[in-house]
Amino acid sequence: MVVGRGVGLATLAPLVKAARANNLGVTAILSSRERHMSMSQHHFVDVGARLVEVNDDDGSSAPDNVMECIRAQIQAGQCDALFTCGSKRLLGIIQHLAREYSLPGQVALEQQMACGLGMCFSCVRVMCEGQKTIHRRVCWDGPVFDALEVQS
Ligand code: FES
Repeated sequence: MVVGRGVGLATLAPLVKAARANNLGVTAILSSRERHMSMSQHHFVDVGARLVEVNDDDGSSAPDNVMECIRAQIQAGQCDALFTCGSKRLLGIIQHLAREYSLPGQVALEQQMACGLGMCFSCVRVMCEGQKTIHRRVCWDGPVFDALEVQS
């Protein structure tokens, strides 16, 4: 399952394409401010992903609703891994459900960067490695991380 909002959806589209090419079913939860602003639907539809669109207009993108939507998919056996990009709110939801159901998950982080080469440390994020707190450069060590590594 991929869960994204706004421009983050563009990052998830290649992942969905790769999953479908490997015959894996994909549910894509697409979140947007307004229904007509939802992005990249055609990329997901074209490769055969099942779409669930939520938006701020009708309140369906509220965190509690998104959480229950994903939970229903998990309980129906439609989800064995979670992927998201960018949104801290969505990352928090993914982390919560990944812990609750012992599912793997990954996040592609969005972060302001100065050099983009690993030298300036402007893109450092705080992460967990077991019980240790560590710092990782998003540009060099990521931008994709285990969802449970990232402190949100
Ligand atoms: S942007 Fe400079 S170290 Fe990441």
